[in-house]
Order: sequence, then structure tokens, then C-alpha cells
Amino acid sequence: MTHHLDAPPPGANPDWTIAQDWSAYSQDDHATWDLLFARQSRQLVGRASAAYLRGLDVLRLSRPGIPDFDELSERLHALTGWQVVAVPGLVPDEVFFDHLANRRFVAGNFIRRRDQLDYLQEPDVFHDVFGHVPMLADPVFADYMQAYGLGGQRSLGFGALHKLARLYWYTVEFGLVREEGGLRIYGSGIVSSHGESVFALDDPSPNRLAFDLARVMRTNYRIDDYQQVYFVIDSFDDLLRQTQETDFAPLYARLESLPDLTPADLLPEDRIITRGTQAYVS
Ligand code: PHE
Ligand code: FE
Repeated sequence: MTHHLDAPPPGANPDWTIAQDWSAYSQDDHATWDLLFARQSRQLVGRASAAYLRGLDVLRLSRPGIPDFDELSERLHALTGWQVVAVPGLVPDEVFFDHLANRRFVAGNFIRRRDQLDYLQEPDVFHDVFGHVPMLADPVFADYMQAYGLGGQRSLGFGALHKLARLYWYTVEFGLVREEGGLRIYGSGIVSSHGESVFALDDPSPNRLAFDLARVMRTNYRIDDYQQVYFVIDSFDDLLRQTQETDFAPLYARLESLPDLTPADLLPEDRIITRGTQAYVS
């Protein structure tokens, strides 16, 4: 998640990181984490992808309280070479991509208030850690995230950041994957949301389409409510292969002459997994 400001805020390092300051969390903060954790890990049984659930387990995220980033980073680093670093909030695009390209995931260190359990627009430590970090324990997804960071730096040179950002949105944040038992969630925005973790799989409203790179890059997204479309990958290997082995420069150029799509649009060439009613529109 990114934001425009050219200098880090006072007290932050030049790369925008800050100390997590774990000892500054109150009992109440830790209790909020525990509440969110208990509620959401129950919700995810049979819904989250195997890779996500494995990550939650191997990182021992079920221990009570907000995780200490240094400890978490040690375990994560041993598995896939990733680390978790704290930032004060949104950071500039270049800074965000540089961290990803170097296998550092930037996480907000604040936690939401009790009246924001279900919804909040800015990513807090629950979204960032519970939502994103388990997938970083998966070797293939770990490589995808780093490749994305490098691709992000490259996209700036083509003025194509908004197209690449849609790829992040529809995979890292709101992606679904086809598994043996059916569709599963891996996107962090879904796994960290009590309501959307059911809606994304079970609700008749949204379209669920087979992942197509160019199609995703043309599709606008909404940040203020449940998605109207989800894209389904066949596997993480397939996602990595399709993105890493494609030079995006010609793709960006080709897409310039094609109109953007709204989230609910369907195209004749779409591979539809479930056609939504679009009844849920707020
Ligand atoms: N292949 C992309 C490019 O040429 C880089 C990339 C890889 C982007 C993986 C996203 C994910 O820019
Ligand atoms: Fe996120």
C-alpha cells in the first residue's frame, strides 16, 4: 500500500522503517489481536488455502498477543528469507517496492480499535501480519512477492504502476486459488476479513473468473466494500510462472489502447467459474 510524501516522518529511518515498539502495546491491544485471531482462524477452516494455513502454523502465529516482528522475522527468514519490518503507515511506491525486492514486508504497527473489528480502510497489524505473513512462508509465493517488488520498480519507468497495482489487488489482496476440495482464499484482504472470507467463496453476487494477466491489469477495483469480481489462479506455481516469465513492457504498451473495465464487467472471452448476480452492491 502506497502513499505520496517524499521524506520519512520524523523519527523514522531513511527507508521509512520504525521500531515496532512491542512493549508499548497495551493489554487491550493484545486482547484485540487475540479476539480477531480466534474469530478469524475459526472462520478460515475449509476456506483458506493449504499454503496459508501451513504458514499460520509454522510461524506459530497462534500464540497469544500481537507478534513481536523480530521474533517472527527470525522464523520467517529461516523458512524463505523474508523479514517483517514496521512502518508508520502508508509509504511511497518506490520505498514499498524496494522493501519487497529485498524480501522485507512492511507492516503497520498499530492495531484497530474495538469498534473497528469488522472494517477499516488502512492496513493495521492484524491485516498485515495475520493477512499477509503466512503466505510469505510459502516458498513459491515468497518468490512471487519479491518478483512483484522488482516488477513494481520497473513499472514506474513505463508509467504503468496503476496496471501493476491491479495485479497486486486481485492476487495478493483478493486472490482465490483452485484446490482439490474447491475454491480457497489466499488474498490477505479476504483472509483478514470476517465477512468477506465467507462472501468471497459462498455469496452468489460476485463473479469468479479464471485468472488472466491482461484481463486483471485492465480491471478497476473498489477499496471501500466487498469485491464484485475475484480472479482464481490454478496454483501458485502457475501464478509465478505467468508473471515472472512474461516481459510486462509489451503488455503495458498493448493495454494502453484498450479501455479499462469496471469490476462487474464480463467479456465474451472470460473464463467464468461462477457468474455473479451482482445483487450485493452497496
Ligand atoms: N515480469 C514482470 C515484468 O516484466 C515482473 C513481475 C513479476 C511483476 C512477477 C509482477 C510479478 O515487469
Ligand atoms: Fe494488504
